[in-house]
Amino acid sequence: MAQIFDRSSNALARMSLVLTGLIVIALGVTLDELQRSPWVTRQGQRPDQPVPFSHKHHVMGLGLQCQYCHTTVEKSSYAGIPPTKTCMNCHAQIWTNAALLEPIRRSWATNQSVTWTKVHDLPDFAYFSHEIHVNKGMGCSSCHGRVDQMPLMYMQNTLQMEWCLDCHRNPAKNIRPTGQIYNMAWEKPSEERPVWCSVNDQAGVPTAQMVNCVTKDPSSAGAEVASLQLPMANGKGLAGDVQSAAVPAAPAYKKFTDQNELGHFLVEHYKIRTPRELTSCEVCHR
Ligand code: HEC
Ligand code: HEC
Ligand code: HEC
Ligand code: HEC
Ligand code: HEC
Repeated sequence: MAQIFDRSSNALARMSLVLTGLIVIALGVTLDELQRSPWVTRQGQRPDQPVPFSHKHHVMGLGLQCQYCHTTVEKSSYAGIPPTKTCMNCHAQIWTNAALLEPIRRSWATNQSVTWTKVHDLPDFAYFSHEIHVNKGMGCSSCHGRVDQMPLMYMQNTLQMEWCLDCHRNPAKNIRPTGQIYNMAWEKPSEERPVWCSVNDQAGVPTAQMVNCVTKDPSSAGAEVASLQLPMANGKGLAGDVQSAAVPAAPAYKKFTDQNELGHFLVEHYKIRTPRELTSCEVCHR
């Protein structure tokens, strides 16, 4: 053999092996990048819609709440896309001749729903539900970004598994009081923007409903504290036995100036599962 293949061809063979290896690695890296690129994930793209509906105008401009149109977001896996009727509540009177709104009027006249192009669309093998996220303190903007500033809808995040897991590994960093989930401008608590929370664990009500959080100092006048109803014992009024009546103690508020502390408090009281449980495959692949 040595006569046919001299030393130099041996080196050449080794060289080409190394080269092939490098090409395979480079290809792998490129494919991986490609798989994460906005071109594949459609992150940030604004697909053509039958009507250029502006969240900015309707949410920021007119002050409409998300639930006005996405009616099932708190009680179902789907947030829901509004029917033509919802638009016609206003557009039967406003902008009635606008060419932009012709598809809406046609839909109303023919009773055929508008075919919006989905912006967010998980593959069928991944399970997702709005209900649990929204009821456990995950705000719309944590996943969808500043929708109130979007003239046309686009996807803020990749919605890839890695993105889901990043939060499931540590929900404390994103969690907020359930009363703030629709607040597009919500920011983490800080020294200048504290949050006060109290827990009413007497009532045996499950989870998040037991926690009340406010963004104004509850000990100062005019704070948005739930009013305490004093029981009127046997219709006798407050005179006499006010001492013996089971007046619930005023809830003790805890002050938070840091997302980490608030996060761990809410994770505990909203009874969020452990990161280990939340990252197990069956949670999302059923
Ligand atoms: C006046 C009705 C209306 C209001 C109010 C409204 N939306 Fe929408 N929303 C729509 C319509 C119509 C679409 C479908 C067209 C589109 O994607 O722009 C949509 C689409 C969306 C989508 C993308 C759906 C998809 O295809 O993936 C998200 C996310 C969304 N809205 C979030 C919100 C949030 C968050 C709020 C509150 C800040 C809100 N919307 C308020 C009507 C509304
Ligand atoms: C609460 C009343 C109300 C509802 C509900 C409503 N609109 Fe509007 N819409 C308005 C008003 C007011 C304007 C004019 C806004 C402006 O010019 O500042 C407008 C403007 C528009 C425009 C013109 C472009 C723009 O954004 O200014 C489009 C398109 C439109 N709406 C589509 C829709 C669709 C689609 C729906 C249903 C999903 C809908 N609207 C629901 C009140 C409403
Ligand atoms: C934990 C992240 C997360 C939060 C919080 C969240 N969404 Fe979504 N949203 C998603 C994902 C993921 C999808 C795509 C679902 C699919 O394709 O099955 C989606 C889809 C939607 C859609 C399209 C229709 C649908 O249900 O598939 C609308 C509208 C929407 N979200 C509105 C909202 C509103 C309003 C809120 C706040 C009340 C909200 N979302 C909170 C992740 C989130
Ligand atoms: C911003 C944080 C956040 C993001 C992003 C997020 N989740 Fe969650 N998810 C949570 C929290 C918090 C819970 C509630 C855990 C609990 O109650 O134990 C949850 C629960 C769930 C559940 C359990 C539902 C049930 O009924 O058991 C599923 C499924 C789920 N998420 C899927 C997803 C998928 C799929 C994505 C990505 C497309 C995603 N999540 C992105 C925070 C998040
Ligand atoms: C928090 C929810 C969640 C958990 C937990 C989860 N996945 Fe996924 N997984 C997803 C989503 C969402 C997708 C779709 C991603 C996309 O569309 O790019 C996905 C996609 C996949 C894919 C398809 C290939 C890919 O990367 O797109 C495989 C395989 C997979 N998951 C396996 C697993 C295994 C194994 C586990 C457990 C170790 C797991 N997943 C846990 C949400 C989850």
